[in-house]
Parts: sequence; C-alpha cells; structure tokens
Amino acid sequence: MPKDFALTFHDDDHLHQEREHQQAQDADRLVQLAKLEPLSDGGLRTSKLLLEALSKAPHHHEAKVLLDRLYQLFVPRWHFPMLADRVRNRAYAAAIAAKVRPGDVVLDIGCGAGLTAMLAARAGAEHVYTCEQHPLIAQAAARVIEENGLADRITVIPKLSRNLIVGVDLPEPADVVISEIVDTMLLGEGALATLKHAMETLAKPDARAIPERGRLMARLVESDKLLNLWRPQEAEGFDLSAFHHFATVARITPNDFAACGLRSLGPAKDLFGFDFTSPEILAGRTTEQLDCSDAGTMHAVFVYFELDLAPGIQVTNGLQSDGHWGRTAFLLNQPRSAEPGGTLTITAHHDTSELSVSVHAAVDCTDDAHQRAILMEQVWVLGTRCDDTFLPSSTSHYAKPGNAPAKVVEFQI
Ligand SMILES: C[S@@+](CC[C@H](N)C(=O)[O-])C[C@H]1O[C@@H](n2cnc3c(N)ncnc32)[C@H](O)[C@@H]1O
Repeated sequence: MPKDFALTFHDDDHLHQEREHQQAQDADRLVQLAKLEPLSDGGLRTSKLLLEALSKAPHHHEAKVLLDRLYQLFVPRWHFPMLADRVRNRAYAAAIAAKVRPGDVVLDIGCGAGLTAMLAARAGAEHVYTCEQHPLIAQAAARVIEENGLADRITVIPKLSRNLIVGVDLPEPADVVISEIVDTMLLGEGALATLKHAMETLAKPDARAIPERGRLMARLVESDKLLNLWRPQEAEGFDLSAFHHFATVARITPNDFAACGLRSLGPAKDLFGFDFTSPEILAGRTTEQLDCSDAGTMHAVFVYFELDLAPGIQVTNGLQSDGHWGRTAFLLNQPRSAEPGGTLTITAHHDTSELSVSVHAAVDCTDDAHQRAILMEQVWVLGTRCDDTFLPSSTSHYAKPGNAPAKVVEFQI
C-alpha cells in the first residue's frame, strides 16, 4: 500500500473512532436528561430524548431498556393482538360502514392506532375527531393517519374524552360516537361512565352509537385443564391447596383458552344488559339459576360479553369465539357433579366498572321448615373472593353470620 494512502486510511479510522466516542458521550448525556424528565406529558419528551440518544448511538443499552420500559408503561401490550384480531376489525368495519353516513361528524373515543377513525373516514364521514388519553399513542396514530392520506379528514386529539369541549376540540356535537373501550368483562375500562358523558355532552340528541348495546352473560363450564392450570393440587408431592384462595377468578389468555378447552354444561343466561346509546351508570344486581343440560363436572362459571355494534353485527368473547380478548372464569371452590336438569344459583353485582359473582347453596332453616335461606357459599369480586360472606337477596330470607343456618342440606344441583 502506498505510504500516503495508508496514512489517510489511518486518519479516517481515528476520526471515525473519535466521532463514535463523541456520539456515545452525547447519547449518555441525552439518556441522563431523559431520566430527569418528568412523565407528566405522557412520556413525549422522554421518548424524544431517548430516540435522539439512539440516533447517535444505535446500540446504547440503557436508552433501549428505558425506551422499552416507557412504551410498556404507556402503550398497553394488548394493542398488538387487538389490531391483529381480524374478526374484531371486520365487525367494526362492517358496523361503521352500516352506520356512518356521508356528511356525518364522527367522534371516535380511544383512537389507538387510528383504525376505527380511518374506517369512519372511509365510510364517508365529513370529519372524524378521535381522542386518545395516551399522548404517545396519539402521536403515533397521527403518523399512521397521515401515511394513509387521511390527515385532512381526521383530527387526533391527545385527550381523555371527558376533557373534550364542543366548540373547542370539535366544532359541533357528533352524529355518531364510535368506541371500543371494553375489557374482557365489558365494564373494566369505564365504558359506562365514558359513554354516558359522551352521549350527553359531545353528541347530538339522536346520535348513533357503535356499539349500541352490550350484555354480560354466564354459563357453567367444565375444564380439568383450567383447574389444573389455576389451582394445581400438588407440586412435587406437596399439597398446595392452602394457596388456592388466591386463584378464584381465572383470567384466561387466548392461548390458555385454546389449550384448556372449556366445555359448556348448559345454556347461557343474561346477567346484565347495557344500552350504550343512552347509558346509565347505576349499579345492578341479579340472581340467576344456571342450568345444566349435560352431565359432567362443574368447575367454573364462565362470564363473557356480547356487543351489538350495529343490527346483526356482534363481537363477543364467548366460548365459541376466537380473538384477542381474554376470557374470565370464576372458579368453584370445589368441583361439583353436573347432571341434566341440575342448576347452580348465582348472584351477580356490577358497579360502574367491576363485577362480582357469588354462588348460592340452598339451606334449610330448621326453625321454620317453610323458609329457605340462601347462603352465599362463595363470593368472587373480580380478583377477590370473600369466603363466607353473607349478602342479602331481594327474594329470599337471609342467612347472616349471627344466625347461621343449622345445617347445609344440599347444593342446588
Ligand atoms: C381498545 S383500544 C381501541 C383503539 C381503536 N379505536 C381500535 O378499535 O382499533 C382503546 C383505546 O382507547 C383509549 N381510551 C380509552 N378510554 C378513553 C377515553 N375515555 N378517552 C380517550 N381515550 C381513551 C385507550 O388508551 C386505547 O388506546
């Protein structure tokens, strides 16, 4: 190699190393700044600093770890399987095409990646206002919408719907309100309160809503595998049953749901119905008898929702459904034998965002043979069960801890 060329090569190498060193120092400084940044803006400034650090030093370990942590904090992981759920997406596309008319002003509550807003624009809405509580998500959605050529038809508002003001955030009340803010138990994301506010203050009096209605349903199911997954009886020869009271409500991932093969033992019963065109946020309570039509073993009460998006268009996380939503099963303390004609009585309560379910056991009151008392043998309050809690029922005499029934005669099966 000629001497001059070798020198130049060496100098370039040195310069390159120096530049890399400088950039690594700049990246370190940006990461330190990111760590000092408060998260009150939903992580916008922090992510900007971390991305800048990574543009200078693409392999910066701490910047990568912090950015991932930030995204996990503000962008729930269920967004990805949700967006890949073709059944859900198709149902929303069909319902929006059926209910949004050309010229409509649409309010889309919970923009996410922007899918429902873009579907509304595609259906002919004059303008779509879509709000999103997480600024990082809203920022990304605006990019998605722009890349799909819809930025002039959709306005992304990085706010909670409750903070929107007609005349400020949207020019007039909406003709249609679209939302997909239900969790596996329908109410957990606060859909009732959010939609009551939206339909009353952000929409025209006769506005359409997607979804229109929702129901919570329950049925008895059998699944050894589910029980073994949530309440393994033993491990390496040790009895684990004293740990089981922590596992009362099985929140089942789609994969576990597929693997556990829950078998229905009887027909579903409606627990509660909700009208999302004029939602009420009253608490509700119902006592229902769940019927067995098949023989087997009762392991759990399976509770699921059905959402009517538009006439004839539904989404559900029921037993036969496929999709990204988790499933919920309230596990019985003890498996019980099921026979055709048998029943299990439950009482369900809901408030604005939570559901509790409790199982009844029929008992005799020996002081009055004609009176029946209902002992709430097992109570589930989503994640929490309060054993031996006695609750009043509107139609029955009540067994209370102070005058506990003399004898449990039989379960209603
Ligand atoms: C289940 S995702 C649905 C996203 C999109 N609409 C879709 O269907 O693909 C719900 C989104 O709504 C947001 N969200 C929930 N309640 C909200 C509210 N009251 N105001 C603004 N955003 C809300 C959540 O942060 C989440 O990004």
